[in-house]
Order: sequence, then C-alpha cells, then structure tokens
Amino acid sequence: MQIESAEEMPLRTSDDVVRVRQAVRARAIAAGFSLVDQTKIVTAASEIGRNTVDYGGGGTLRLELLRDGQRRGVRLTFVDQGPGIADMTMALKDGYSTGTGLGLGLSGAKRLCNEFDIKSAPGQGTTVMLARWK
Ligand SMILES: Nc1ncnc2c1ncn2[C@@H]1O[C@H](COP(=O)(O)OP(=O)(O)OP(=O)(O)O)[C@@H](O)[C@H]1O
Ligand SMILES: [Mg+2]
Repeated sequence: MQIESAEEMPLRTSDDVVRVRQAVRARAIAAGFSLVDQTKIVTAASEIGRNTVDYGGGGTLRLELLRDGQRRGVRLTFVDQGPGIADMTMALKDGYSTGTGLGLGLSGAKRLCNEFDIKSAPGQGTTVMLARWK
C-alpha cells in the first residue's frame, strides 16, 4: 500500500467542516470514486468532522490518497485533544448522543466506509480513522 498524497487540515469551525467536505470530495474524485461513493465518504467525513468540532474542541484531519495495486482509496484520520469518549460501546450505538444530535454520526460513518477505527480515552482525546476503497 502506497500513500500517493497527504494533506493536513484544521477543524475548528463550521467553515472548516465545509472545507473538509470539499477537500474529501476532490480526493474521492482523484481516486476515481463513483458519485455515490464520493457522497458516502463525504457524508462520513462531515459527521466525524462535526464531532471533532462539537465534542473534541477542534482538531485536525489528515487526508490521504492511497493506492494498493490497481485499487485506490481515501483514508481520513481525525485527531482531537478533547475530553475523549468515556463509553465507546454506547457512543457507537445508533441513537446514543450526549448532545442534541440524533446519535447517528459515528454508527452511520462506520457503515459508509470499508475501514473504521476509533481510539479514545477520557482526558486523552479522540482519533477516528476511516477509509473507503474504490
Ligand atoms: N471527538 C469526540 N470527542 C468526544 N466525544 C465524542 C466525539 N465524537 C463523538 N463523541 C461522543 O459520542 C456520541 C455519539 O456521537 P455521534 O456522532 O454518533 O452522535 P451525535 O454527534 O451526538 O449526534 P449526530 O451525529 O447524529 O448529530 C456523542 O454524543 C459524544 O458524546
Ligand atoms: Mg455526531
């Protein structure tokens, strides 16, 4: 597996979430994704990016274009230094929210991708990695 390109973007404001959506769309097009697959990864990025801003107190996104033989993919790594997630099992359940959301962000993003990994500990922030392959 090769990393063809990588960029890092800040995620502090709603405007940053909009920029992230645009950048992820551009990478998905570069990877040759269909319109449906573009929308899947953009939607996942939007959900996780909003969590980074809303719950993580802001952070960063690392956005990578991957190649594995003939396959291309997009990998997204969201990092924040916020309060972390105390109960991961609950957080990943449909309908669980400590805020005013529907609680479908994490579970939905996971379903929209081929690879999903989340690491978090109270007081140590949260890292969410997701990838989608063509
Ligand atoms: N980066 C993060 N830092 C701390 N807590 C988080 C983070 N991301 C998610 N959480 C916790 O996990 C819960 C579930 O997140 P999820 O995105 O599934 O739902 P939501 O954001 O509450 O609602 P929705 O995304 O549907 O608007 C959140 O309510 C929050 O408590
Ligand atoms: Mg959410």
